[in-house]
Amino acid sequence: MRTSEQWFDYFRENLRINRINWSLPPTLTEQELHTVLHSMQAWQLGETSDGSNLIRAGRIYAAKINDPFYVSTLELFIKEEQKHGNNLGRFLDMIGQPRIKKNWGDTLFRKIRHFNTSMEFWTVTVITVENAAQLYYQSLKDATRCELLKEICTDILVDEAPHIRFQQERLEVIFNAKPPRTQRVTRLAYRFFYFSTILVVWFAHKRVFKAGGNNFSKYWRKMTLKYRKTIGMLKRANLAKPATVCTPVPLKVNHKLECHGQ
Ligand SMILES: [Fe+2]
Ligand SMILES: [Fe+2]
Repeated sequence: MRTSEQWFDYFRENLRINRINWSLPPTLTEQELHTVLHSMQAWQLGETSDGSNLIRAGRIYAAKINDPFYVSTLELFIKEEQKHGNNLGRFLDMIGQPRIKKNWGDTLFRKIRHFNTSMEFWTVTVITVENAAQLYYQSLKDATRCELLKEICTDILVDEAPHIRFQQERLEVIFNAKPPRTQRVTRLAYRFFYFSTILVVWFAHKRVFKAGGNNFSKYWRKMTLKYRKTIGMLKRANLAKPATVCTPVPLKVNHKLECHGQ
């Protein structure tokens, strides 16, 4: 497990790297545009959230565990998500398509988030959405021949794997601090939340998943594997180490594509 300072250093360094060649022309075909546009607009909107509710939850949590550095780290994490939104927005501008201001999924998600100040809720939510994002951006990348859009997707994919690790380490700390009897019920709640959310994501973005080579059963299988690798790993983590020990582990910024999210 890395400390908040180590994650801060990682995010600060990673934000300095530009992996996208913006001099490439956008070459989306009419067919590709028809397939991906609405979905891409929705993700663009989702990635541009100001993160104020997450920061609010982070502040309360950081005070409770006496780790003031955690909030600064969260701020950089949010900046990286906003970078994804800005890049997708820039691409939409280049192809002459609007950035949307409203979307049913985003509105629903924002409403749920607004009333929540629990770091646990936030962490499970972010892990769930990030797992879906990995498969989504890989599908978007595979659904087009446009090199610029592929580079934008690659950049997001490079960022997302550490995002999941960052949140997973936090969830381990939160989960391991619970008494074993509560852990069983909690795990069921995480599971229910994860699988119901990814079902909604499928229905909202199935065109892109399918265009990227994922039918429903493939999508479900990959997302189940991702569940096992992230939230499903909590039990082992619990047995392996005590709740609040932080062993510094160096984290390197990855300049190349690290994860395809498969
Ligand atoms: Fe993102
Ligand atoms: Fe992310």
